Amino acid sequence: ELGGYEHYMLKEIHEQPEALRNAMRGRLDEENATAVFGGLNLTPQQLRGIERITLTGCGTSWHSALVGEYLIEELARIPVEVQYASELRYRNPPIENNTLVFGITQSGETADTLAALRETKRKGHRTLAICNVVGSSIAQAADGGVYLHAGPEIGVASTKAYTSQCCVLTMLALYFGRMRHMSFERGQEIIEELHRLPGAVQQALSCDLQVRDVAAKYKDATNVLYLGRQFNFPTALEGALKLKEISYIHAEGYPAAEMKHGPIALVDKATPSVFIIPHGTTYDKVMANMEEVRARGGPIIAIASHDDPQVDSVADDVIRIPRVPEFLQPIVSVIPLQLLSYHVALLRGCDVDKPRNLAKSVTVE
Ligand code: M6R
Repeated sequence: ELGGYEHYMLKEIHEQPEALRNAMRGRLDEENATAVFGGLNLTPQQLRGIERITLTGCGTSWHSALVGEYLIEELARIPVEVQYASELRYRNPPIENNTLVFGITQSGETADTLAALRETKRKGHRTLAICNVVGSSIAQAADGGVYLHAGPEIGVASTKAYTSQCCVLTMLALYFGRMRHMSFERGQEIIEELHRLPGAVQQALSCDLQVRDVAAKYKDATNVLYLGRQFNFPTALEGALKLKEISYIHAEGYPAAEMKHGPIALVDKATPSVFIIPHGTTYDKVMANMEEVRARGGPIIAIASHDDPQVDSVADDVIRIPRVPEFLQPIVSVIPLQLLSYHVALLRGCDVDKPRNLAKSVTVE
């Protein structure tokens, strides 16, 4: 079952190029430069009338919701709100008419997400699920939805489901964008980039050996900071969660610019910072943050574009990823972070696939 891999988590990390292909199969419509989904159960007119989107989920699925917020707002220009499912249920927020609510979940059994979706549905809102497990409780409770088709995810730490969720959200952003202002040419460009994505993820996976060395260097850390901006801010949160849950090292993710408002006080020789700094609009600003950390003696691991020589002078270790457009960076830049948490956990003798105190699906509130 493990197909030659030592753990499910490692197997699932390496399955990501294939999982992405499966998520996209039959859903990219070149002729109309858009995406197509079979199970939304809403007419084009109803979808055209959507004025707001709420994305909800827990844990890693909440992180993909944050990626979705950046994606949908940038590509489709629809205002998006992200809510923890556990908060949404009891907060009783005023949700406006013509709001579409997406519950995002790998298992489809998370009690908080199920309850949030039922509550919003009860109020008369349209609810959809982005879900991996076919026929699961959340898939059934929603009015419709999109399956990830990522295949079974056994490791407690979510990996391929996360990147598949980001991929589905990209296709939804394309779909909603093309219903509105997005040009045919822009739609075509996005489809071309999506076709190249599994190859880019495959290339990113080749950093494995190098990541192992980096893991050996920092395995005894007690605190790690993860910093990134814009599309890579959720990646920082996700990298930190992965490290926490399987290696039991305390880690925090922040938008890189927030560091100077408090967390920088944590920086010292024993506290490594992982900067997610591929090329992009905020590159120079993140570089400046990185220099701040260096000036305070903090060790730096940088996740950077393959053709960026500038980071070498500031970071102690540079892990290279292929260049992709900013809106696809979350799917590529998370790969070395998944591997980093895997190798650190392994070196610390932790049970990678079944971390303490955690279950694969959290069916209690
Ligand atoms: O099955 P779900 O996506 O609804 O699960 C939500 C979280 O419990 C889950 O993502 C959790 O945070 C993972 N263990 C993270 O790796």
